[in-house]
Amino acid sequence: MCGIVGYVGKRNASEILVDGLRRMEYRGYDSAGVACLYNGHIGVVKNAGKIKALREKVDASQLVEIHQATMGIGHTRWATHGAPNEVNAHPHLDASGHFAMVHNGIIENYKEIKAGLSRHGIECVSETDSEALIQLIAYCYTDNLERAVSEALKKVKGTYGIVVMTDREPGKLVTARCGSPIVIGLGADETVIASDAAAIIPHTRDAMYLEDYDMAVVTGDGVQMFDLQHSPVNREITEMDWDAGSAEKGTHAHFMLKEMFEQPDAIRNAIRGRLDFDMGTSILSGLDLSPRDVAQIGRVLVVGCGTSMNAGMVGEYAIEEMAGIPAEVEQAAEFRYRNPIVTPHDLVVAISQSGETADTLAAVREAKHKGAVVAGLCNVVGSTIARETGRGVYLHAGPEIGVASTKAFTCQVAVMLMMALKLARGRRMPRHQGEELCQWIARLPELVEKVLLQNDAIKGISKKYADKENAFFIGRGYLYPVALEGALKLKEISYIHAEGYHAAELKHGPIALLQENTPIIALLNNIPGKEKTLGNAEECKARKAPVIAVVSEGDEATAEGFDDMIVVPDCPPCIAPIPTVVALQLLAYHIAAARGCEIDQPRNLAKSVTVE
Ligand code: G6P
Repeated sequence: MCGIVGYVGKRNASEILVDGLRRMEYRGYDSAGVACLYNGHIGVVKNAGKIKALREKVDASQLVEIHQATMGIGHTRWATHGAPNEVNAHPHLDASGHFAMVHNGIIENYKEIKAGLSRHGIECVSETDSEALIQLIAYCYTDNLERAVSEALKKVKGTYGIVVMTDREPGKLVTARCGSPIVIGLGADETVIASDAAAIIPHTRDAMYLEDYDMAVVTGDGVQMFDLQHSPVNREITEMDWDAGSAEKGTHAHFMLKEMFEQPDAIRNAIRGRLDFDMGTSILSGLDLSPRDVAQIGRVLVVGCGTSMNAGMVGEYAIEEMAGIPAEVEQAAEFRYRNPIVTPHDLVVAISQSGETADTLAAVREAKHKGAVVAGLCNVVGSTIARETGRGVYLHAGPEIGVASTKAFTCQVAVMLMMALKLARGRRMPRHQGEELCQWIARLPELVEKVLLQNDAIKGISKKYADKENAFFIGRGYLYPVALEGALKLKEISYIHAEGYHAAELKHGPIALLQENTPIIALLNNIPGKEKTLGNAEECKARKAPVIAVVSEGDEATAEGFDDMIVVPDCPPCIAPIPTVVALQLLAYHIAAARGCEIDQPRNLAKSVTVE
């Protein structure tokens, strides 16, 4: 979703801003722009479309500010209010042209603000909610930008991450947050502000994260932080652990491909130091759960969105089966609004790659409010969910840039299995079973490597299905969430209408849609329920639907009579989701590539959904 960048220092600002926007492209956007302040003037360049086009427009610009400035702000916009065109793109200027702002989030009372400004003769030119805010800031200005910003923000309802500048006070950027992340990177003689670490890591590793209702005055020499009442606040300087190279795609055609192939290493990082082979348990100290706490957990609620929710479902199955603790997974938006029953004996686990998803964050707040023990399972260190939960487990998967989540999913599942193991060993699982599970978890990178070796074979299969417009993925037990995730991957990047179904449920509706053009991807791994799924796959075949059978190594006979076969390693049911999903990721990727789709930035999708 929208990306923000701001720079103040000694180097050429427009270059740093455009490069920062490029690094945040993966978040999803449809227009972009920069504003630079030089010699008492603000120059703006924006356009609808991609950063590449913006860069060309910046290079061709006649504006001296764009080429000479050493401070400025930039933005990638994912349209909410108003079409993705140049007028609605950020940065927005006030009517006088002396103030410029970039904004992430939604100003919910923007109509009211616009009407109030209109009564003072100030008219907005764009359809955006954001422009109302910069017009209001300019209206509130007397002689101090931070005062004007705080005055304006006190009148705002909604969410924001903003960076503002004025030609009246050169050398100063003012930033503030409520609900949309802002990170400030502290370099030597320069400061970079961004909504995403990706835009900061090429310049510095020292970062400060704004909390909600924080404001900061940022110059090339450093940062002063306040709350909206202008009382100073202190935020720690933390070191960001990602390097700039890990956010580049190198020789791979797409970030998604790179990230799929990084999975063995990503999983190694996620499990490193967290398995206790002697005791047959896991060491997840960040969960901060004593044996007594574990014994007292009455229920585990897992909340998340999209791919993270699918990973949560594997966790739900594992926790119930191994630990004997009732567990449920729930879509985070549903959880936050349906007034769920939550008690202090509930452990709520919020899963989020980005740690910024608005609905998951709201679910965390709801669960905390109701007194549950809340843990975060995030990839992005220092993200809002990680900080607000205060306890949890980081994935350590490294930056995930492809919008379609791959390595985050497999690491989420690996961490959920370790969490289930810890809870199980604290409850009813005997040590020898724990030891066995530790061994299997440790083997996950090797199992994934085996699947990745089949990349070419899966690419070959994908060619036969690239012209289809509908597909169904079916599975049971631990493979049901994998069917959901396989279908999600395919629809996200190839635009093929794909549905994940419980194999038994296919008969209750979707079977009506089957014909020779509707492939079925049947997860027929060697786990309990296989024979039943096999029966369901036969039913599909009998209706002329082509079937791709995913089977366990050594059990290839199961695929006889079906159209295509993908072989995955034979492993216990709870382990199977990880290697199996990797095969489905590759299948989705190659089908999308054959269709010529924009794999890393699928249309309309955003990597991090920070609005409801
Ligand atoms: C978006 C992304 C998905 C992701 C979901 C949840 O929809 O496109 O890939 O699974 O958000 O994101 P989170 O960062 O909370 O895991």
